Amino acid sequence: MLIDTYGRVATDLRVSLTDRCNLRCTYCMPEEGLQWLAKPDLLSDDEIVRLVRIAVTDLGIEEVRFTGGEPLLRPGLTGIVERVAALTPRPRLSLTTNGIGLARTADALRAAGLDRVNVSLDTLRPDVFQTLTRRKRHADVLRGLAAARAAGLTPVKVNTVLMPGLNDDEAPDLLAWAVENDYELRFIEQMPLDAQHGWQRDGMVTAGDILASLRTRFTLTPEDSAERGSAPAERWIVDGGPHRVGVIASVTRPFCRACDRTRLTADGQIRTCLFATEETDLRAALRSDAPDAEIARRWKLAMWGKKAGSGLDDPAFLQPERPMSAIGG
Ligand code: 5AD
Ligand code: SF4
Repeated sequence: MLIDTYGRVATDLRVSLTDRCNLRCTYCMPEEGLQWLAKPDLLSDDEIVRLVRIAVTDLGIEEVRFTGGEPLLRPGLTGIVERVAALTPRPRLSLTTNGIGLARTADALRAAGLDRVNVSLDTLRPDVFQTLTRRKRHADVLRGLAAARAAGLTPVKVNTVLMPGLNDDEAPDLLAWAVENDYELRFIEQMPLDAQHGWQRDGMVTAGDILASLRTRFTLTPEDSAERGSAPAERWIVDGGPHRVGVIASVTRPFCRACDRTRLTADGQIRTCLFATEETDLRAALRSDAPDAEIARRWKLAMWGKKAGSGLDDPAFLQPERPMSAIGG
């Protein structure tokens, strides 16, 4: 098991497959100038599958989520999904994507064994999308979402970050749209993970702001807290049901005490937390022919040292060096 000194057990593995992306969301990446990871530093498909196999068979991982950057940009994605879905015990498999390219790939991913997707979409307005992501791809994302739903990658979850002065007035419109299209909408508070280090606590849109805005148009009833478990999203029933809306208050109501995550970067580093400042190098172990047991031992040791929380509340908080695009959501 991957257990830490606070008694938390990690059962959910996030695997970043690439640090590259075809968008440039302002809360994640700079317009230009970000250095990509070098090709030889990236794990190969075989190396990724081996690490996931060790995680699933020796370390108690039950759920594997592929992220990026943008994971659909990884050429071997479908093959990786297929091989991970064939592991015993079979983990639950999901993908966090910006949706571009999903229209082409949803059916193949479903056939390979993917269970669900989370698609990032912050606005219903193409012009605001372009300002936020610095790319003209809004229609592609909407097509990708519809394809995911049609392929049965359900429930299709939509992740939304609200940015002050850009899309912070859109929460009710987004929820009405999500209910109509049968997507499960989740708002994520903006976290200090942008490559330009431009995050400001004072400027951010809080969970409280989001709920107040939604309540101008919807009746929200809190979901039974027993249903939440270790899920970071607090969920509300919309207008009596059956639809729900989630809010992930990473900053104002952190859920670190229930965290069940462990993360693997595209270059083979274990991170115990999005905000970790230290990493554990499994790539070196892989490439020096370490046996499975040694890799499992290093992974366990890394998780044992997991800190109590993100440290966001601490005035001495230091943003991790890696931007979100090189960690994975
Ligand atoms: N704060 C909150 N969410 C972020 N994401 C990317 N950067 C940030 C940030 N700084 C979101 C993306 C995606 C998920 C992986 O994380 O919108 O939905
Ligand atoms: Fe790309 Fe996701 Fe970062 Fe946007 S948030 S730039 S879609 S990796």
